[in-house]
Amino acid sequence: MWSVGPFPAVEYRSAAMPALLIRDLEQVVSPAGGPAPLRGRALGELGVLERGYVLCEGDRIARVGPMAELAAADVPAQTVELDGRGSSAVPGLVDCHTHACFAGDRAEEFALRAGGASYEELHAAGGGILATVRATRAAGQKGLARALERHRGWMLAHGTTTFEAKSGYGLDRETELAQLRAIAAAGGVPTWLGAHAVPPEFPDADAYLDEALREVLPEAATLAEAADVFLERGAFDASQARRYLEACRAAGLALRIHADQFTEAGGISLALELGARSVDHLEATGPDGVRVLGRSDVAAVLLPVAALFLGRPMPPARALVDAGAVVALATDFNPGSAFCESLPVVMSLACTQLGLTPAEALTACTVNSAHVLGRSDRLGRLEPGYSADVVLLDASDWRYLPYHLGGEHVAVVVKEGQVVWER
Ligand code: NIG
Ligand code: FE
Repeated sequence: MWSVGPFPAVEYRSAAMPALLIRDLEQVVSPAGGPAPLRGRALGELGVLERGYVLCEGDRIARVGPMAELAAADVPAQTVELDGRGSSAVPGLVDCHTHACFAGDRAEEFALRAGGASYEELHAAGGGILATVRATRAAGQKGLARALERHRGWMLAHGTTTFEAKSGYGLDRETELAQLRAIAAAGGVPTWLGAHAVPPEFPDADAYLDEALREVLPEAATLAEAADVFLERGAFDASQARRYLEACRAAGLALRIHADQFTEAGGISLALELGARSVDHLEATGPDGVRVLGRSDVAAVLLPVAALFLGRPMPPARALVDAGAVVALATDFNPGSAFCESLPVVMSLACTQLGLTPAEALTACTVNSAHVLGRSDRLGRLEPGYSADVVLLDASDWRYLPYHLGGEHVAVVVKEGQVVWER
């Protein structure tokens, strides 16, 4: 079992933070290969070190190696030790696509869908995204922060040490900015999803975009790292998405697109044209889209829970990997189309439904998702110099993470050198 040594109360990120040695691990597992993003064959090449250790100093990983080569002189005085016998270590998981900053739930809608109503019908009738917009507007800054804190705890318990979260449930200046502030305050990576749906107080998408770009973008650009748009029938079309994204790019934001979730609506070619970071979803993407992405640097972020939750076809993951595309995996955690915060479940689905190997699935939700967030130089690997974000599993074979569907093998989560969660 885990023995967490005496852990002095220290300030998070304090320079005086003691070192942390995770020793006697059965496996230390990390994406191998060159610089991220890893694509093609390299996606599935993991480094698996048997009987190893991870030494963290401050918020960084200082050394990783076999126990047999660990010398007492390598370990600073007053190092806290974790006993890794019977366990394995993987990098802290990175969730590069969530809508975790929402208030309320859509349990009632879930029941209606189970009874036969479709997601698109509910949306068209003023439910769906707009139902969550009403709850999120009503929550206020404090209520929103509380809800996000709860959701962040769920994510952490599944091994997610870094999460991106989008706005898009405010759709007015005050609530969109409140969402972005709450996400940053919770340590998330904020994305401005100003073009998620058209709120009821506007006659059409163009009128809404005029106001959002004029009134919200200037401040959103100071809070967010990227902008995102829902390019879909019933949401925003390609020319509206282009207008929104061009303005966001001019304001310094990286670009992402919810593309091909229900229909192929031009999201991939727009992403290439504008140099977007990613296209996300791709459940409806056909062979041409796969070919184009295979030759491009735009990442394909696949969200198999959304497909499962809505009973939609799975995205063409195997074809994308084989075509050489940059592939990442994420939860899409939100109250409507993917009420699931677990990247281990996403990895299980990747292996059982998307045709990926466990190794490919791990790389796709560690260093490749870090790449989507512009952080692959410091997140998503167990290597010296990387952020000391480590997930310890109570299984000696790390593959239990995807293998055990819904299993709970995350035993300890270390973020920036500190134990932040224990089962
Ligand atoms: O990525 N497709 C658009 N947005 C979300 C769903 C949001 C919701 O239903 O609340 C998605 O699936
Ligand atoms: Fe999404």
